[in-house]
Amino acid sequence: MTQDLLSGKTALITGCGRGIGKSIALTLARAGADIVVNDIDQDTAENLAGEITDLGRKALVCCGSVGSRTDVDATFAKIKDKFKHLDILVNNAGITRDNMLLKMTDQEWDQVLDVNLKGVFYCIRAAAEMMKEQAYGKIINLTSVTALTGNVGQANYAASKAGVIGMTKTLARELARYQVTVNAVAPGFIDTPMTASIPDEIKQTIVRGIPLGRAGSPQDIANLVKFLSSDESAYITGQVISCNGGIYI
Ligand code: CAA
Repeated sequence: MTQDLLSGKTALITGCGRGIGKSIALTLARAGADIVVNDIDQDTAENLAGEITDLGRKALVCCGSVGSRTDVDATFAKIKDKFKHLDILVNNAGITRDNMLLKMTDQEWDQVLDVNLKGVFYCIRAAAEMMKEQAYGKIINLTSVTALTGNVGQANYAASKAGVIGMTKTLARELARYQVTVNAVAPGFIDTPMTASIPDEIKQTIVRGIPLGRAGSPQDIANLVKFLSSDESAYITGQVISCNGGIYI
């Protein structure tokens, strides 16, 4: 039964107020998990928490930036207090500050690396402490096709997402002894608020290059994350799994 897949589990999904993260949060909740909702925007987080409780699951809102050590520490203190355990961590929070290299500022570089890479480090380190005690955990990191192919205007983003892949493979080796799996999901071009701001002409060129003939949906990604969050993927660790309509094979 779908609802039993994750029943009794607690999942933290970072940056899940909208887009792919929101879809993941609702999908895991429908599969039975209680959800820790993290986002920098309080209103979107509260709205999502309402949708989760409507599904009959518990929701804990922890707003803040994953790039802030203080915010991450506060989130994990709340998780320990309310749920006592954390079974699933989905590192979804991510930002873009696209610019051509010669125009890219130090700030654009730092902002993207702080959220997309250091944020993943902060969250995994805090989660791993709990998961080690439980001798159980599922960590899923959102990387990107951009990490595998590169993309004009995204030196900062591609570097951060490639870093996530290196971290995934390393931590899969380190945390296996605690029965914690660590995998990465590499979405292709997905219809989200993040891709909505790409100039139309560029967007059309990208979609024309997708063999399956369409942009992906957040649900396409959430379905894969659900599998990697469940015991159906018990023997999979250290992998980067693409979900990209064939845009990069
Ligand atoms: N391939 C080759 N050349 C390209 C190119 C591409 N994909 N995109 C732009 N160029 C070229 C342009 O033709 C232009 O060439 P000329 O100077 O000869 O005219 C040059 O690069 C500069 O491009 P722009 O005029 O567009 O430069 P800009 O400073 O106005 O804008 C930009 C730069 C902000 C990076 C803009 O090009 C842009 O928004 N690009 C889209 C970036 C993108 O794909 N982002 C993905 C976001 S979604 C996401 O990140 C999720 C995920 O995981 C995939």
